[in-house]
Amino acid sequence: MLNLVILISGRGSNMENILKAVKKNKIPIKPLLVISNKPNAKGLAIAQKLGVKTEVVESDGLKGGNWEYDSKLVSVLEKHRITPQNCLICLAGFMRIMSPEFIRHYKGRIMNIHPAILPAFPGLHSQRQALEYGVKYSGCTVHFVDEGVDTGPIILQSVVKIKNSDTEESISKKILKEEHKIYPKAVKLFAKGKIKIDGRKTIIS
Ligand code: GAR
Repeated sequence: MLNLVILISGRGSNMENILKAVKKNKIPIKPLLVISNKPNAKGLAIAQKLGVKTEVVESDGLKGGNWEYDSKLVSVLEKHRITPQNCLICLAGFMRIMSPEFIRHYKGRIMNIHPAILPAFPGLHSQRQALEYGVKYSGCTVHFVDEGVDTGPIILQSVVKIKNSDTEESISKKILKEEHKIYPKAVKLFAKGKIKIDGRKTIIS
């Protein structure tokens, strides 16, 4: 069976939701490890409560997109016998850019959730970007991670309507609800071998 690793930086609601869905929906993947780059991430206690091992690999002072930090992640993964052949790595609110070396090592095995309909509003504060731009719809995207920022092949997306009365907070809340629906679905599709990457596209069977 595949091993599931989830990387977080904070609250961990997507992580919690995926871990619960794996159990409830009998998704054929073993939740092996949660790693946080922040020692005070709230998600760590949640993962432990759900019986999943946790590790902290602190990133303070280490620039994003850098092998110096990411090689530490690889060491931790190898310590837990996680290999590029036997894993799915889910970034769930992991607020760091991964290095090209890390991405190449786990090619086609790293997923991310982004709070916008990519390719619109990549990077940080996507909900604020959507509000300021004045779009009438936004949403979220689960995609494979490639060497760009939020540019990898798209797996699933879900849309929410934006009203005049919406604030950054209310949009974030609506989008998070959709994130919680599509991220476990993407994990399930991957675990069942139903996603094929074909260049920029994914083919879901
Ligand atoms: C989520 O909204 C996720 O889409 C976003 O951070 C939040 C994490 O929440 N990720 C990004 O913005 C990545 N660029 P969570 O910790 O409760 O899952």
